[in-house]
Amino acid sequence: MIEYKSAGEIAVMRESGKVVAAVHAAVREQAAVGVSLKELDEVARTVIEEARAKASFLGYHPSFGAMPYPGVICTSVNGVMLHGLPSPYRLRDGDLISVDCAAYIDGWHADGTVSFTVGEPLAEDLKLIRVAEETLAAGIEAARPGARMGDIGHAMSTVGRGAGYGMQNDFGGHGIGRAMHEEPFVPNEARAGRGLRLRPGLVIAIEPSLMAGGGDRYYMSSDGWSVCTGDGSRSVHVEHTVAITEDGPVILTLP
Ligand code: MF3
Ligand code: CO
Repeated sequence: MIEYKSAGEIAVMRESGKVVAAVHAAVREQAAVGVSLKELDEVARTVIEEARAKASFLGYHPSFGAMPYPGVICTSVNGVMLHGLPSPYRLRDGDLISVDCAAYIDGWHADGTVSFTVGEPLAEDLKLIRVAEETLAAGIEAARPGARMGDIGHAMSTVGRGAGYGMQNDFGGHGIGRAMHEEPFVPNEARAGRGLRLRPGLVIAIEPSLMAGGGDRYYMSSDGWSVCTGDGSRSVHVEHTVAITEDGPVILTLP
């Protein structure tokens, strides 16, 4: 069942979204060559705690994870596309990392992901990040009352595939509210004009991931959580929680 949110509920989710944005800013600030993913998870924990919010990921155990999630952020480096565990791995010069975080206040969740480089960046990584951000922006732009769910995925794949990158559709976006993962599923790739009619009160996380190698294969790491690109190429994941309103899409996971 899809739960449509009131303006008051969306206002609380906006507060949760600000906490997520604060986590992104703090982790980006602290991420540097030699800093471990575990240490970045600690930074995120502190930000969430100080905001008197709660971490959505910690202890979460969906079917796609081997055990309850042990951290508050996902830290996916280079060929890890999604759900990278905050391990003792220390960042190296030129690493490409995505930081995925969700938090809730009064039971209302917001979920968002940013990607950035550490140290001296590779030009192709900066391009991959830019195109992923443009892919997400195109998806958000399509999230308007009267449009259909397929329009979002169509807009995203036009940008991402159009630039020659690979995409996958098994891990996409999702409704969000009293639970982090709610109906409906939000595909990264879809046919325009198909699927659910979008209407005000629908709140969704839109989260495309792009694979630099152009393929669409991926595999599960033996750590039970990390989803890696099939060809070992680098990937970028970006995400915003977006409320569909009479006036169009409103991003909830911005500062
Ligand atoms: N943004 C990711 C998603 O919606 C976060 C899931 S990671 C988990 O799939 F740890 F919470 F499972
Ligand atoms: Co999500």
